[in-house]
Order: sequence, then structure tokens, then C-alpha cells
Amino acid sequence: MPVRRQHRLSEASLPGYLAQCGLIEPGEPVSVEALGDGNINWVRRFRTASGSRVVKQARPALERFPEYRAPTDRIAYEARYTEVAARFDHEGICPQILFFDPDECVLVLEDLGDAERLDAALARGADVSRAAASIAAFLGRVHSGTRGVDLAARFANDEMRRLHGDHIFRLPYRPNDFPLSPALARRAREIQADAKLVAQIDAVYARYLEPHGALVHGDVQAANVMIASTGPKLLDAEIAHVGDPAFDVGQLLAHLLLPAIARGQPAPGQRVAEVAWIAYLSAAGSSGAESFAAAAVHAGIELMRRTLGAARVPAVERDDAGQAVVDAGLRLVQNPPTSPRQL
Ligand SMILES: Nc1ncnc2c1ncn2[C@@H]1O[C@H](COP(=O)(O)OP(=O)(O)O)[C@@H](O)[C@H]1O
Ligand SMILES: [Mg+2]
Repeated sequence: MPVRRQHRLSEASLPGYLAQCGLIEPGEPVSVEALGDGNINWVRRFRTASGSRVVKQARPALERFPEYRAPTDRIAYEARYTEVAARFDHEGICPQILFFDPDECVLVLEDLGDAERLDAALARGADVSRAAASIAAFLGRVHSGTRGVDLAARFANDEMRRLHGDHIFRLPYRPNDFPLSPALARRAREIQADAKLVAQIDAVYARYLEPHGALVHGDVQAANVMIASTGPKLLDAEIAHVGDPAFDVGQLLAHLLLPAIARGQPAPGQRVAEVAWIAYLSAAGSSGAESFAAAAVHAGIELMRRTLGAARVPAVERDDAGQAVVDAGLRLVQNPPTSPRQL
């Protein structure tokens, strides 16, 4: 079958496209604004007299790193995650999808405005307990409600799952040319030489790739959470898959812990992680709950890759911050606590 080329939307072509899809009237005035960091997808806000909405187009080459390519059907998995999760989404955690075009790989979403992102709130030391608890409880409901449900064929998002998995579990533990300071590069080499640790992380990766467990969002990082006036929102489910629920929870815990560890004052991070874990457990019910230790191992792996991997976070720019985050990550992986009290 011939592959039809995608029409790449641009600021100039967007109004025509929206009119063709019946989303605006032909000739209706529309203005277009940049939005977000422009890392992976083409994301813009558009405004008409009747209000604003957000448009997201998935393209073969990533926006900021065009040398990296990713399958464009990732946007269909994002739409499908929102659809399946809707049953468990009493609080409106997923932004509403107003329109989906599978041919052009376009989603039109409700506009959450310029709500603060969770990473920004954490960076300024804000108390994010309520937002963290709501996101954790949502994940708990989705995990327990989809556990053992036969969704794997609908979420055969294998390429995205593996691309992302390689960056988390593999590349930081193999020789690489990530731009690290000399001290952190030395630390990375020490870790890569620890055969027992690398084997342990390889085993966690193998479990991550197994298509059973529950419906997993797959990218619960602080940059994908917005704290809107109507409550927290979890964006960007383009890596959704059926797999290990501990992965989602562990990623959330890692992002709650990281800025406080990097500042050298871990206590507030530990408190919010505990709040999130309690909310997750009570929403999931005992049958749906992951063990804290399994989530802690994932949290540890995420802390290390955000310091030693390609997607470093700004909080670890200084070496002392980076070393503290790696220390904490190693401890979680090698000696995982069984309760958040032991974090
Ligand atoms: N519905 C929305 N309302 C307001 N801002 C949004 C919305 N969706 C995305 N954004 C902004 O755009 C950024 C990128 O969107 P996201 O869905 O995470 O795509 P990407 O895969 O490119 O990271 C977000 O971090 C957020 O700042
Ligand atoms: Mg994102």
C-alpha cells in the first residue's frame, strides 16, 4: 500500500486545516501561539473569538531532536489512553480531547491555559501534596481497574515503549557520549562497571517490556503534569502501554523526590512522596496495589537516568546535586525500602 505523506501543519496552514475539519468557520480569524518547550511534538495554541484550544501533531522526526525518529501513531495511543482512562477519571485528570485525526496524527485538546507545570512548582519549593495525591489516586484507579483486562492488543505501542525504555534502563548503563561533567562521567563509568547492578536493571527492563499487568501511562514525569485552576492534569500519554504499574508510580515518586534531594533537603520530597503513595494505595485497593519496594526501584532508576542519561533535568546541573541524586537513586535500587517512611 503506498504510504501517504503527512501534511505538516504550520502556523500558516493551521487555519485552513481547522476550517477543513469543521473546527472553525472558513475565513474565521484565528491566531496561533507557541506552547511548551517543543521537545517531541508540534504543539500550538490557537484562538478564535469563541475561545482557545490546543493542537498537537505527532511527526516522524522529534521537534527538538530531529535526528531522533519515532512512530507517529503514538498520538493514537495517547487518544486511546484518554478514552480507556475516562472511566476512572472522576476528577478530569486527562485533558479533554475535542478532535482526533488519525490520518494527520493530530489531536485538538481543551486549553489548560498557562497553568504552572509540576516541575516548575517543585523547583520553587511549593507544596504540591494535593496535586500529587490526585495524580497518584488517578493512577491507582486506572491500574486496579485495568489489571488483567485484555488491553494489550489495543496498546501495542511497542516501538515507543522500547525507545523510551532504552533511554531509562539501557543507555545510561552502557558506554555513551552524554554530555556530563568530568565528575559525573566518572560516576557513570563506575556504575556501568557494576555488573550486578546493571544485571538488576536489565531484569527490571525485561519486566517493563512484558505486555501484562495494567494500563500504564508510561511518562508520568513532572513536565507532563500541569496544575490548572480546576486541578492537576496529566498530559502526553503517547507511551501508554500494558505493562508494569510500578513503573508509573515509581516515575511519579522520583519526580516528587528529585528536586528536594538535589537541594540537599530531602524531607519535603519524602513527605510528598508518602502522601502520593498513600493516595495511590487507597485508590488502587489492596488487590491493585504494587509493593512499595517495586515502585521504589523504578523511582531509583528514574533518579539516576535524570542525572546520568540523555534527558537530564535542570535541578542536577551542579555536581553536588547530581551526586546526591545518584546516591539516592542507587540506594533505592540496591536496598529498596518497603514503606515510604523509610525513604
Ligand atoms: N491542553 C493543553 N493546554 C495547555 N498547555 C498544554 C496543553 N497540552 C500541552 N500543553 C503544553 O505543551 C507542552 C507539550 O505538550 P505535551 O503533550 O507534553 O507534548 P510533548 O510530547 O511534545 O512533550 C506541555 O508541557 C504544556 O506546557
Ligand atoms: Mg510532554
